[in-house]
Order: sequence, then C-alpha cells, then structure tokens
Amino acid sequence: MNDRRHFLRQAAAGIGISLCAGTVTSILAGCETDESLPNVPDGSTFTFDVGAEPGLAVVGSIIETPIDGLTNPPTVFITRVDDTTFAVFSTICTHQGCPVSLPSEPGDLCVCPCHMAAYSPVDGSIVRQPLSGSATDLPKYRTSYNAETQILTITT
Ligand code: FES
Repeated sequence: MNDRRHFLRQAAAGIGISLCAGTVTSILAGCETDESLPNVPDGSTFTFDVGAEPGLAVVGSIIETPIDGLTNPPTVFITRVDDTTFAVFSTICTHQGCPVSLPSEPGDLCVCPCHMAAYSPVDGSIVRQPLSGSATDLPKYRTSYNAETQILTITT
C-alpha cells in the first residue's frame, strides 16, 4: 500500500512538473513574439496620401499615423526627409514593446516612456539604450513617393 501511495505521489509530482514546464514553455513562447513585426506578409504595399497630411508639408517634420490595412504596428512614424523622400518606421519599441512617443519639440528624439530608450526621428535608429537591457533600431519600411500624385507607397 505504501508503495502504491509513493508511486501515486511521484506520478502526481511528475504531472505537476510537466504541466509547469508546459506552462512556462507557453509563456516563454509568448514572450518571444515580436510585436514589432507587421501583420502582413513581406512585400505587402500600402499607400498614404501625403497631400492630405499638412503635418508633413515641411522637410524635417514627423507625424504618427495609422496606415489603412496595417494593424501591427497600429501606427507608424512618417518623417519627411526632403521634398521627395520619406522615412517610415514602426512606433513599437524594440526593447519590450511599449509605444514610442513623437518628439516633444522639433529636433528632439523619439523617446520610449517605459525605460527611456531613444530613437532618431529621421530614420528610427537607436540613439540611446534603455535603462536596462538593450534595444535595436525601429523596423523601417521601404518607401517610394510619387511627387505628382503626392502618394507615398509603403512596402513591408
Ligand atoms: S519598452 Fe521601450 S525602453 Fe523599454
């Protein structure tokens, strides 16, 4: 009888360990999901009407905006680099996924309020690492601009 109880306790402990291990594995797998990746296949294209966006009228300006059809990230930064060149990059911090803020003043950095990582408003490159750990550049998208129609095409 004692042997049987001992066996049952050992089996229950083993199941518990297996469940815990499975749960931990699931949690870790969830943590590995890169929230910064777009929700669409590579090569998908989207358009944005620059002519309808007064916030991009001046070279050096930057806006945060959703893009129709792109839900992850929910918004992107668009910077007007020069008259016909735009940079488009994710607003999701590459450290732990917080939303990065627009620069508070022209010429300031895009700062993540969670751990203070800072990114260039020109191209989303990492300028200051977070208080602990590390971050990489914000994912950037390929763009092409039609100056006649003022339509910006964004490719994931
Ligand atoms: S999540 Fe942005 S700095 Fe940590």
